[in-house]
Amino acid sequence: MKAIGVLTSGGDAPGMNACVRAVVKSGIAAGLKVFGIQDGYQGLIEGRMAELTYLDVNNIIQLGGTILGTARSKEFMTVEGRKKAIDSLNENHIEGLVLIGGDGTFAGGAALSKEMNIPVIGIPGTIDNDISGTEFTIGYDTCLNTVIDAVDKIRDTATSHHRVFFVEVMGRNSGYIALNAAIASGAESVLIPEQVTDIVALADSIKHQNKGVRSSIIIVAEGDDGGGALEIMQKISPLLPGYDLRHSVLGHIQRGGKPSATDRILATRMGAFAVDQLLKGRNNVVVGVVSDELITTPIGATSTSSADKSAEKLSLLGAMLTKG
Ligand code: F6P
Repeated sequence: MKAIGVLTSGGDAPGMNACVRAVVKSGIAAGLKVFGIQDGYQGLIEGRMAELTYLDVNNIIQLGGTILGTARSKEFMTVEGRKKAIDSLNENHIEGLVLIGGDGTFAGGAALSKEMNIPVIGIPGTIDNDISGTEFTIGYDTCLNTVIDAVDKIRDTATSHHRVFFVEVMGRNSGYIALNAAIASGAESVLIPEQVTDIVALADSIKHQNKGVRSSIIIVAEGDDGGGALEIMQKISPLLPGYDLRHSVLGHIQRGGKPSATDRILATRMGAFAVDQLLKGRNNVVVGVVSDELITTPIGATSTSSADKSAEKLSLLGAMLTKG
């Protein structure tokens, strides 16, 4: 193997740059040419790529987003789109790919690998932490810290004005961000897609929280079956007469910013490991971390995962409540 490509695809996540840097530096150290592909699979289809040097990836470990750019390419989902991608890989003599992203990214890589017989290694990069085969994805730790920082600030207003805030966080169909942000911010309640939401029970619990001071934080996962923060607030409002209710959608601030030390280290380890796995002839696997050990899982065996141990964590939240 003489040349490999690296791309970032799907939603950007803090730590993606640290991972690109690790792939480039360890690839060059192993005697490979490393091509950075722009804007994920769309850039691959359009042949937008360039060989990266050590200098190109200096001073990017601390940057949020992805210097390569990212996209969710519809064209790549078609056989015709992938044919164009294969042509551009052949033109640049690229013999292996490192794909940083989520499940959609890996599924696309598996299809490409089958049609072209090129080895691909996936690295989980998403704030959602919703990839099975790893305990942590790149970007999740930074995102959690961003969320708890925002909730701490909202808590100031909630307490001062005796308000109940419904704070919506990202996570797509998974409640990892919501559940762990709720524990870490001392939220009074959390609504996650993995549990059926009972509005009446939630209203009852709000009434009995915090010794009647009428100030609570309810974290709402965006994929919750009861709806987003605004919808939940509207549904619960008639059940909470006299309460001052507000909602706040944290949005894309959760995806940006400098990666935490944890994400930088995870991204660096995973990037170097992915190159090592390519050089060892591995194909069609996703890198993961379990009990601090780097492992691989076959791409077909990874799937979107749900918030684990939610029953234990939800009961922990309940036990932490100050009741009236
Ligand atoms: O997968 C990351 C994520 O931020 C999800 O949490 C969210 O549902 C989605 O991407 C938002 O995507 P977009 O930035 O395309 O609106």
